[in-house]
Amino acid sequence: MDKLQIRGGAPLDGEVRISGAKNAALPILAGSLLADGPVTIANVPHLHDVTTMISLLGRMGASVTVDERMHVEVDPTTTKDTFAPYELVKTMRAAILVLGPLVAKHGRADVSLPGGCAIGARPVNIHVAGLQAMGADVHIENGYIRARADRLKGARIVMETVTVTGTENLMMAATLAEGQTILENAAREPEIVDLAQFLVSMGAQIRGHGTDTIVVDGVGKLHGTHYEVLPDRIEAGTYLLAGAITSGRVRARGARAEHLDAVLHKLQQAGAAVTRGDGFIEVDMRGRRTKSVDIRTAPHPGFPTDMQAQFAALDTIADGVGTIVETIFENRFMHMLEMRRMGADIRLEGNTAIIRGVPKLTAAPVMATDLRASASLVLAGLVAEGTTDVERIYHIDRGYEHIEQKLQGLGAQIKRMNDRR
Ligand code: EPU
Repeated sequence: MDKLQIRGGAPLDGEVRISGAKNAALPILAGSLLADGPVTIANVPHLHDVTTMISLLGRMGASVTVDERMHVEVDPTTTKDTFAPYELVKTMRAAILVLGPLVAKHGRADVSLPGGCAIGARPVNIHVAGLQAMGADVHIENGYIRARADRLKGARIVMETVTVTGTENLMMAATLAEGQTILENAAREPEIVDLAQFLVSMGAQIRGHGTDTIVVDGVGKLHGTHYEVLPDRIEAGTYLLAGAITSGRVRARGARAEHLDAVLHKLQQAGAAVTRGDGFIEVDMRGRRTKSVDIRTAPHPGFPTDMQAQFAALDTIADGVGTIVETIFENRFMHMLEMRRMGADIRLEGNTAIIRGVPKLTAAPVMATDLRASASLVLAGLVAEGTTDVERIYHIDRGYEHIEQKLQGLGAQIKRMNDRR
């Protein structure tokens, strides 16, 4: 199993190019199932989760080709099967995103229920209830969601919790439904907006994306399109934070500041000089120690849960005491226990972590437990004294393209090792 070995201490300095957003590419790939012609998607990040989604589409009979620049062409017209097996869904929960498109386009879907995962229970009841409200017959049987519908019918759906993939699934389903669907309490993440724009480019009638009320007027069919995925705001935020935590300077090329308001605000509070440029964001913390910040996660435009672990790493070596409250997922603190092993002073009380900054962390072997937790351990390794081994980095490969090359380009001493023990 691969691990990352990081020699801490060097301030990062340089520019990094931000890849396409995983959490936009995945729903867009799933959404391509809705089209009646080929769809080409550019700026797709080369990540395990993307490969998994591509193999799922292929298994269902869609013809998928990928070129060396990660331009993905999906011809969904050859789709024969509407089955997403457990073996696949258990490795990637986002496979649930084929549910809405399959029912809308093919009138049926058999998609494995995702299990719990390392960060929480993550139920999909809202996805299911929404499809039922649109007239689908949905049963849970032998661990599978079995959904059937002749043609979905528009409905007014009030989602009881703000859910990103739930909003995406129902928005996709509504594009081919008969009549109008109104999604209330919708998620407002930039990835929802990107998916909506992709669907609109295929002929879908959608408005209100980016607000909490999305209105979709169903159409008879959708055509093929070409679409470019938006840059990954979480990847950008992670590299900017790497600049701050190492008292260095990082420019994230391609990142969009308007998607990162809450994160950039916290970086400024931590003492960083933040420049929002034309096509880049730069964070400069040279010669200074970060100040502790308080974080409370919330749906967009609030502070993203996917950046919580990285800010926890920052607080471990900052000046002061920072409080981190996780409100989205019930078990997203595993990184805290690992960072304690590196000398961090962290007290946990339910969904709150109180972190007293220490002057330095010390290297230790640590274990990645989920994607963003692994990113936070890499950040901690970048400032720890000594050599940190981050194990189980397959988690990180699910969401960060070429992380070691990108960090090396910024001056980090990091390498990937194959650990055969
Ligand atoms: N929820 C329900 N019922 C549902 C759906 C969600 O109770 O039917 C709850 C969840 O348990 C959670 C909350 O609603 O407490 C929000 O979860 P959400 O559904 O928004 O999460 P998700 O759609 O499964 C996406 C991202 C996650 C990101 C969250 C929150 C994708 C593929 N995944 O997950 O990304 O953390 O939104 O922003 O878009 C990651 O990239 O590392 C990652 C985990």
